[in-house]
Amino acid sequence: MAEKPILCVGLVCLDIISVVDRYPQEDTDTRCLSQRWQRGGNASNTCTVLALLGAPCAFMGSLATGSAADFVRDDFRHYRVDLTHLAMHPACALPTSVVISNSTSGTRTILHAASNLPDVTAADFDQVNLSQYKWIHWEGRNASEQVKMLQRVEEHNRTCPASQRVATSVEVEKPRPDLYQLFGYGDVVFVSKDVAKDLGFSSAPEAVKGLYGRVKPGATLICAWAECGADAMGADGQLVHSDAFSPDTVVDTLGAGDTFNAAVIFALSRGRPLPDAVSYGCQVAGRKCGVHGYDGIV
Ligand code: FRU
Repeated sequence: MAEKPILCVGLVCLDIISVVDRYPQEDTDTRCLSQRWQRGGNASNTCTVLALLGAPCAFMGSLATGSAADFVRDDFRHYRVDLTHLAMHPACALPTSVVISNSTSGTRTILHAASNLPDVTAADFDQVNLSQYKWIHWEGRNASEQVKMLQRVEEHNRTCPASQRVATSVEVEKPRPDLYQLFGYGDVVFVSKDVAKDLGFSSAPEAVKGLYGRVKPGATLICAWAECGADAMGADGQLVHSDAFSPDTVVDTLGAGDTFNAAVIFALSRGRPLPDAVSYGCQVAGRKCGVHGYDGIV
């Protein structure tokens, strides 16, 4: 039987990236080294990396119409991401990010223009045939709707044979308190450095220990912390750590967190133990930081 795909629910947007070797001064007119369009959005980037790693995957989200949206859709197709659950909204604008990517320091500065594109609702998600998927990942956005989606999967898992169960993961990346209800759902919860700091933690191990009480019993909590690597805790309560695998030169960190999430999901979904999965996440994210875009990561 063919391997079941991983479904990622969240944002797709257009990233307009200017690569510079020095961050521009305000109110100056300088040349960048290069400029490119890239499909962006956390769930969308996670799909790209899953596909590159060899996992069949699908994206669920909304897209506007027009030439920039065509670019985004063609790029999904290029990576063979299944778009069955992509909803087209002709009356909406495409969300875009202007990104200054500093290839000397590796920083990425994002100016995001959100749009009137609707997030996926629980009613949209009711159309998904859950037994088609092996794993479903949510980028935390419209949390109260996403809680209903996660509850639907929990209910499905309670009532179906073990072979049909769907694993779930949730990313809590933006420091917005309404997203924090998502900690209590998902077999795997990814918490970002920004959120951990917002909640008063100053390192990944502290965050994982301090926040583990918020996840559902038996779940796994994972926190990546840039060049400090990543820490995690699973059902056995043991703290797991991996150092970062920094490339010789960090040239592009845009989407590094999305890459980490994809690689960890990939490894866990293939039955690898948590320490291996966290280390693999750090390795693939490290490779990503050494290249522009995603193509060089495998
Ligand atoms: C990277 C990213 C970009 C996008 C921005 C949206 O994680 O998904 O691709 O522009 O974040 O917040």
